[in-house]
Amino acid sequence: MPQAIQAIRGMNDILPEQAAYFRFVEDSARAVLGGYGYSEIRLPVVEKTELFARTLGEVTDIVEKEMYTFLDRNGDSLTLRPEGTAGCARAAIENGLLHNQAQRLWYQGPMFRHERPQQGRYRQFQQIGAETFGMAGPDIDAELILLTARLWRVLGLQDSVVLHLNSLGTQQARNAYRAHLVEYFSAHADRLDEDSRRRLHANPLRILDSKNPAMQTLIEGAPRFLEMLDDESRQHFAALRALLDAAGLRYVVNPRLVRGLDYYGKTVFEWVTDRLGAQGTVCAGGRYDVLVEELGGRATPAAGFAMGVERLAALLAESGAMPPAPAPHLYVVIQDERFAQQGLLLAEALRNDIPGVRVQVNCGGGSFKSQLKRADKSGARYAILLGEDEVARGEATIKPLREDQPQQIVAQAALAGHLKNLIEE
Ligand code: HAM
Repeated sequence: MPQAIQAIRGMNDILPEQAAYFRFVEDSARAVLGGYGYSEIRLPVVEKTELFARTLGEVTDIVEKEMYTFLDRNGDSLTLRPEGTAGCARAAIENGLLHNQAQRLWYQGPMFRHERPQQGRYRQFQQIGAETFGMAGPDIDAELILLTARLWRVLGLQDSVVLHLNSLGTQQARNAYRAHLVEYFSAHADRLDEDSRRRLHANPLRILDSKNPAMQTLIEGAPRFLEMLDDESRQHFAALRALLDAAGLRYVVNPRLVRGLDYYGKTVFEWVTDRLGAQGTVCAGGRYDVLVEELGGRATPAAGFAMGVERLAALLAESGAMPPAPAPHLYVVIQDERFAQQGLLLAEALRNDIPGVRVQVNCGGGSFKSQLKRADKSGARYAILLGEDEVARGEATIKPLREDQPQQIVAQAALAGHLKNLIEE
């Protein structure tokens, strides 16, 4: 026998049981986003490498070591998208969506990062993201956050996640802060780990994000950005906090929240859970007012977020917050293979006549007894039995599977009406 081919590490099959959680997250997100006036945009999975190199930052983990980059047959360097913001901004510029108009967009789909796979961190993973363009104030930041908070309520996860909030200020303020940080960390260069030493001049803010336990005391002592915030960002942040307070939303101001991508400024936020181990961020985002201009568009304020569907699905599974996938209402049992056609057509007729009904037909034969076992296992409420007598008389037998009730023989012509009442009970 040839050796079985296996999937690529970190690129998982989503099996039916998990897919139900994914679907619940996706359907709920779609409904909530629609309720806030966001329009769906569908974007390519592959973009020019330059798009990500230019926007995410040269000294970020993603660009340095996680991109799936390859030369296509024309010799162009292409990359499987590691995230959706850059592509969304590119598409908005390219398709003229930003001319004198604000936009609220959302997307979903697979993203690719060559990270070290572990629970909650995969090489192919699903994001649902929202991006807004043309709105500079804290109101849209608050809307994005309130939208996500509403989604957690719809999913029943509101008690499982905490909102972390920070401001990264304007570019100028960050530059000034950066200089302070370089000074501080240079003075303690002997205590820096290898990653941090490399980042010291290129991207010292990222040192604050280090998870290395040996670095934590040093990081604790570093100058705090929120204390050096420029006036404009300070006001923006205060106004955002006032809006969230007015909406009764709780959050933690986390001065160490810096995010792993370079395009952010002013507001950044993350929704974090402590129930998933190390990979606890289920949704993250913020403002990126310089990105559109960096991509060659007219300067356009922008803000957005993206959530990791795998992590939300895992949280749902862990919390038991989601009802199980709906079982079929009816399971059609066919006594004899000669009646397979009648069985299929009867099920078709029931689906025609009872809107929303879930009917599973026994395909592939089997004894009466084993079919009834399958019917029971499917979770169906009723088995519809088609035996020799039933077929001869144009009838069917309704056998309740979940209640101790007698079976009934009903004319096939009256079956839909009868079942409709039973199912709606
Ligand atoms: P991000 O923080 O890189 O931000 O990713 C957002 C979310 O995607 C994370 O919080 C996490 O839930 C999920 N995620 C990221 N990497 C992985 C992985 N390897 N495996 C599983 N899940 C993962 C962004 O991507 C920004 N584009 C978000 C944004 C949109 N900011 C503004 N607009």
